[in-house]
Amino acid sequence: MKRMLSGIKPTGQLHLGNYIGALRHFVDYQDEYEMFAFIANLHCITVPQDPAELQKNLKDCVALYLACGLDPSKATIFLQTDVPQHAQLGYIMCCHTYMGELNRMTQFKDKQAHGETNLSGGLYTYPSLMAADILLYDPDYVPVGDDQKQHVELTRDLAIRMNNRYGDLFRVPEPLVAKTGARIMSLSNPEKKMSKSDETNKGCIYLLDSEKVARKKVMSAVTDSLGRVHFDPVNQPGISNLMQILSSLQDDRSMADIEQEFEGKGYGDFKRAVADAVCGKLNEIQTRYNEIISSGLIETTLDDGAAKARKIAAVKLEKVQRAIGMEIIEK
Ligand code: TYM
Repeated sequence: MKRMLSGIKPTGQLHLGNYIGALRHFVDYQDEYEMFAFIANLHCITVPQDPAELQKNLKDCVALYLACGLDPSKATIFLQTDVPQHAQLGYIMCCHTYMGELNRMTQFKDKQAHGETNLSGGLYTYPSLMAADILLYDPDYVPVGDDQKQHVELTRDLAIRMNNRYGDLFRVPEPLVAKTGARIMSLSNPEKKMSKSDETNKGCIYLLDSEKVARKKVMSAVTDSLGRVHFDPVNQPGISNLMQILSSLQDDRSMADIEQEFEGKGYGDFKRAVADAVCGKLNEIQTRYNEIISSGLIETTLDDGAAKARKIAAVKLEKVQRAIGMEIIEK
């Protein structure tokens, strides 16, 4: 069975972009692949966090993994810091990453370009830690949204570099980016990615938004004055984004099919259909979330997942440290 690994960094509440670009695929793949899905809490602290809020977001993230359909009897679900080898290999990967490579990472560059000050060293070196997250488990594939592809490509470069230098240490993984929904845009500004750090809160639908709030966000999504439901991300970015959302929530139905359904209809009808699909999905997720959040399932899932992940990660770290010549006593 081929292996897959991915993670989410809940610096805030999980949103529809996370679900469509990543989480729904974890669920789809868990039957066919050996799936590892973790919660990247080390990555969370690369930006300032309120401790109580962080803890809530982490717990919600596990509950939402389960509520969206990840099954702990199939997938290995764990918290990053429960497997200390992530931080350990992360440091080693950092020592094998060139500053030039980190300087090219668009996420850091974007934050810098926006004039954000007091960016942390952790944020700068986080792609090296992400490489460690992946390489510890030798996955064949890493399912991610479009914005994380560059980091998986760096991971491949680092794996190849270390394999060349020290012998065969890592499997070189491939990013898996879906054709539809890999970059869901903000509803209030379709030129920008939907993201947890949405300042206005209007452009981002959170998985735990109430039906009323979610519906309002969809109904007031920015569109255009062309008045036709047509997939054209350059000239109709808002409508095309809503089409991507609808398609993703309806078994990846084709854009042509959606265009046909709404031919001659107004944007109001179209938005209502998108809002119905979004609210239907949120309702399904939230019903399960409410059952899970205080059921004890979160704790057992994390305990079991960490035990399984640690075994694999310990063997890999040991192999890497020995190959580099960092160990004295053979274990
Ligand atoms: P994060 O937490 O920003 O996002 C989690 C996943 O959601 C995808 N995503 C989106 N997809 C479509 N449209 C959007 N608007 C959107 N926003 C986010 C992301 O592409 C991602 O797949 N560094 C990672 C977490 C991480 C990781 C890893 C992932 C840490 N180590 C190892 C894979 C493997 C991150 O910050 O994702």
